[in-house]
Amino acid sequence: HAEDGYRLWLRYDAISNKSLAQSYRSAISQLVFPARNPVLDAAKKELRSGLKGLLQHQPAEVKTATGNALVIGMPQNNSLVAGAQFKTVLNGLGTDGYFIRSVATGGKNCLVIGANTDKGVLYGVFNLLRLLQTNKPIDHLNTADQPSVTYRILDHWDNLNRTVERGYAGFSIWNWHKLPEFIDPRYLDYARANASIGINGTVLNNVNANALSLTNQYLVKAAAIANALRPYGIRVYLSARFSAPIEIGGLKTADPLDPTVKKWWADKADEIYRLIPDFGGFLVKANSEGQPGPQSYGRNHADGANMLADAVAPHHGIVMWRAFVYDNNVPDDRAKQAYNEFKPLDGQFRSNVIIQVKNGAIDFQPREPFHPLFGAMPKTALMLELQITQEYLGFSTHLVYEAPLVKECLDADTYSAGKGSTVVKVLTGKMNPDLITGIAGVANIGTDMNWCGHPFAQANWYAFGRLAWNPAQTSTAIADDWLRMTFSNSQTFVADVKKFMLQSRENTVNYMTPLGLHHIMAATGHYGPGPWDNNLSRADWNPIYYHKADANGIGFDRTTQGSNAVGQYAPQVRDAFNNLAACPDIYLLWFHHLPWNYKMRSGETLWNELVDHYYRGVDSVRAMQQIWNRMGTYVDSERFTEVQQLMNIQLNEATRWRDACVQYFQTFSNMPIPAKYPRPLHP
Ligand code: GCU
Repeated sequence: HAEDGYRLWLRYDAISNKSLAQSYRSAISQLVFPARNPVLDAAKKELRSGLKGLLQHQPAEVKTATGNALVIGMPQNNSLVAGAQFKTVLNGLGTDGYFIRSVATGGKNCLVIGANTDKGVLYGVFNLLRLLQTNKPIDHLNTADQPSVTYRILDHWDNLNRTVERGYAGFSIWNWHKLPEFIDPRYLDYARANASIGINGTVLNNVNANALSLTNQYLVKAAAIANALRPYGIRVYLSARFSAPIEIGGLKTADPLDPTVKKWWADKADEIYRLIPDFGGFLVKANSEGQPGPQSYGRNHADGANMLADAVAPHHGIVMWRAFVYDNNVPDDRAKQAYNEFKPLDGQFRSNVIIQVKNGAIDFQPREPFHPLFGAMPKTALMLELQITQEYLGFSTHLVYEAPLVKECLDADTYSAGKGSTVVKVLTGKMNPDLITGIAGVANIGTDMNWCGHPFAQANWYAFGRLAWNPAQTSTAIADDWLRMTFSNSQTFVADVKKFMLQSRENTVNYMTPLGLHHIMAATGHYGPGPWDNNLSRADWNPIYYHKADANGIGFDRTTQGSNAVGQYAPQVRDAFNNLAACPDIYLLWFHHLPWNYKMRSGETLWNELVDHYYRGVDSVRAMQQIWNRMGTYVDSERFTEVQQLMNIQLNEATRWRDACVQYFQTFSNMPIPAKYPRPLHP
């Protein structure tokens, strides 16, 4: 059973509905699929194994269809796809898009998957397999689909010694020691999984980068990974340590304006592209949390990013320069620093630089308002950085479906060019079509048998890819597909489990950081509660910096009277967050410091409502457990039991969070826990 978790959402078990399987078989009795390159071969192999598993059937391969057939190709290799009827649709599909159409020709029905490129074909094949896996009708298809952003990237925070920063699913999947000779079969399954959801890039190493990864010895290894992933349309990128010219180049400086430094990076880029002709480019964390960067030489982020951009530009590479910067120089409010450093540089970056901005201004909290940089740099390409790995969401023991968190950010209105200037419009180039576009997610993948540590954490990898491809999709629709592909097509199972998945993120907000609280996890580790922690060397690493609880109240005053972080948003957004009457409850203590007896919209005091959120959070974990306990008949016993056991951990942890936070904050509020709630279990 060990492979039950390993197979992710690409399971291809025989379809249990016999008549449905029969109707699929007769619709796909023949296959026309000329494949003469590695990408098309990969697509064909996937199709064959998918059909064999799902339908227990292999269609006859023919040159020209004589019966009901699946016809797959590009205009260059397939006369049907080259036909006039598909010209318009193909014109609109770009490089990665595809169409799937049912057409009747000469007394037979064909299902045509067409694309302009082999990658488009690959994505089309995976989509068809998904339709079969989720038991959808395929007889009247008319789909045209293409990604909304160009760069859809997984960031691995993997170190060369195979530890993973903020990784909770074993060690790094990259086996540097055995590379380049040994290609772990896992790399191929990794590539298949990514291609199935449209991910087309991977950054192999941690943003807190080791310069060794840029030495020839490691580049040869990276090239071997690139070769393994290429047939699945995935390009390799590397995190670059800004001081590498000193550490591995023997230079005295890494000053981005120094000619010897520029030449070192240009030569390094040439060397990389000789080994990896389609190398994607660099990801850079500079001048943040002690990492080196251009500011060490009196230069700014644009100087640093542009220097690297010039090195990779001749090879069509890009530079993803991170906006996650903060240090002790902004003692009043860490949330303001990225905006302060980057906003003045708008328009100064090369066209192959994209600034990678986290969804919120602090750090991947269970809930944050959208990052004020979105909308604030109209002349600069911005990409979204999400954290799929659950650093602040209970690691791989808490079931938290992240799609609703991502959607909350994507759908937020920046008002940067009036109402409707949503984050998603900024990201997809709708606000400025000249800019390159992308979305990145910090991977939750490791060597664990089931890849992600928790069977349901796989859903976050899956949802990330689906949303990067098409941010308009709903959390519900994505969960529905994932559950059917990963577990079962049973209506009862899908409906019940989907419901608790959709609720799961709110549960965690409730038992960890309700009403806009944030960063009150234990200061080292970020797992359990630690609102009392105050012993790390930097003020802004300590939870008490964020909740500011005292006898008068709780919350971080970021209003115009406080740190004025609200001033970094467009006026409409600023006013909404700044005014208590307008500020949504979910962000209340993010922006306001309020007395414990402050009267909430509900009529309750702030204290009572805070307590209520903590109790509700725990109750909903228990409710989730009760539903799961009924699902044993739909799931193999291994995954069923594993989820049960993990839910027990989650319930204990949620209870610990509740009891710790309620009792700690009570030392300031001096108000009673309302009698309707059970007493804390952990005094
Ligand atoms: C968080 C995380 C770090 C990481 C950093 C980053 O602060 O805890 O481990 O290095 O984000 O995004 O660079």
